[in-house]
Amino acid sequence: MTLTKPADADMSGFVDWFRAAAPYIHAFRGKTFVLAFGGDAMLRDDFVDLVHDINLLNAIGVRLVLVHGVRPQVEERLNTSGEAQYVQGRRVTDGDTLEHVKDAVGSVRVDIESMLSIGLPNTPMAGAEIRVASGNYVTAQPAGVVDGIDLQFTGEVRKVAADAIQHRLDAGDIVLLSPIGYSPTGEVFNLTLEDVATSAAIALRADKLIFILDYGDTVDAKGRPINRLTASQAQRLVKDLPDGDMKLYLPHAAKACRNGVLRAHLISADVDGALLMELFTHEGVGAMVSRQSVESLRNAGIDDVGAILQLIEPLEQEGVLVHRPRELLEQEIERFFVAELDGRIIGCVALYPFPETQAGEMACLVVHPDFRDGGRGEALMNAVADSAREQGLKRLFVLTARTAHWFVERGFVVGTPDDLPATRKEMYNWQRRSKVFIKEL
Ligand SMILES: CC(C)(COP(=O)(O)OP(=O)(O)OC[C@H]1O[C@@H](n2cnc3c(N)ncnc32)[C@H](O)[C@@H]1OP(=O)(O)O)[C@@H](O)C(=O)NCCC(=O)NCCS
Repeated sequence: MTLTKPADADMSGFVDWFRAAAPYIHAFRGKTFVLAFGGDAMLRDDFVDLVHDINLLNAIGVRLVLVHGVRPQVEERLNTSGEAQYVQGRRVTDGDTLEHVKDAVGSVRVDIESMLSIGLPNTPMAGAEIRVASGNYVTAQPAGVVDGIDLQFTGEVRKVAADAIQHRLDAGDIVLLSPIGYSPTGEVFNLTLEDVATSAAIALRADKLIFILDYGDTVDAKGRPINRLTASQAQRLVKDLPDGDMKLYLPHAAKACRNGVLRAHLISADVDGALLMELFTHEGVGAMVSRQSVESLRNAGIDDVGAILQLIEPLEQEGVLVHRPRELLEQEIERFFVAELDGRIIGCVALYPFPETQAGEMACLVVHPDFRDGGRGEALMNAVADSAREQGLKRLFVLTARTAHWFVERGFVVGTPDDLPATRKEMYNWQRRSKVFIKEL
């Protein structure tokens, strides 16, 4: 067989893509993702593509928990034996329905396990040997009586056996959870996939909870794309959304983030490769919810100088930041933004505009070590980008000696000192040999 080399243009696209994805590949290794998809996803012709993407995430060392639904499979079985009863959108699971649920879960689970086992040459699964673990990881309790109607075998998650799941993940397995749970009294309960996925993500303190939407896109009530939002914004937005998976899953995404999950993503099943694009590109293609981490983000005032100095001094000593004497900081304080949590300054950043070149320098970005990895750095960066746009600036640049990847992962590309505005280039400290990164706004 001869391998043909793609056209040069294609090749350079591939190289750019691979370079841009590299920091994510590095960052995702050892992270725990919970990926939830409805029973409809499995009925789609392109489900196999999703399975390949799951395989790829597994291959780069992501600890994966899959949660599947069975709604259409249960409906199909019920259609032959009568109508289901719903109370406030929840199905009453009587004894007969439960048999259909068990039947559907068993069959869907086997189908998923078999798809994850395909290792045919000439597929992205070639060489992969994936082990799938499933079992009684979810303890359930009855949902009880709603509007005077007993939901019978419809249940809610009571507990997820996080330790047992972690053991399987440690062994490199993919864990597959179904929307059923068991009670200590030996009963089986029908659960929703969103309840199982959210509870599992919280119990595992997952890095990401990802919902794949079968119905509807990640847009607001007016059809505008939703890209990034905090848990409380998500909560406010949801009431105006039209019925669909976005309305169904968004409150769960917000709940997960409020309870320690770093990020929740909602992505449409209709976009080819959406999972990879959402995870491996800065802009993403879906909606990302993160914790309401920066409780207040505001312009700094003269009273903040002391707190900012305390924040930046250790980093100046380490050589991560250039030294800023108190007098200079006092003069430049209006250039700063601060993140405040319960009255304490826990982060700061500055914007120095160079209007003559329509550029702005983002500088002195710091989040206190105790509060890192909660999206605060990114929130500060976004505040600077918004302010720069408001001032009519077209580009942001940053000089950094140690934090290159962080900026690259957030859409900055490498530049040189020659890309700096002339007045800034004059002040460039050649000894520090900081790298220049640029982002178009
Ligand atoms: C860079 C900094 C501001 C990020 O703050 P933060 O609140 O932790 O930022 P976020 O929560 O938005 O991002 C955290 C993510 O960046 C990653 N990260 C942190 N430092 C990084 C670095 N130097 N290179 C690459 N990634 C880095 C974290 O691992 C985390 O990844 P995850 O989301 O996949 O878990 C903070 O680490 C800091 O204050 N660093 C010291 C000062 C500094 O280097 N400033 C930049 C020079 S101007």
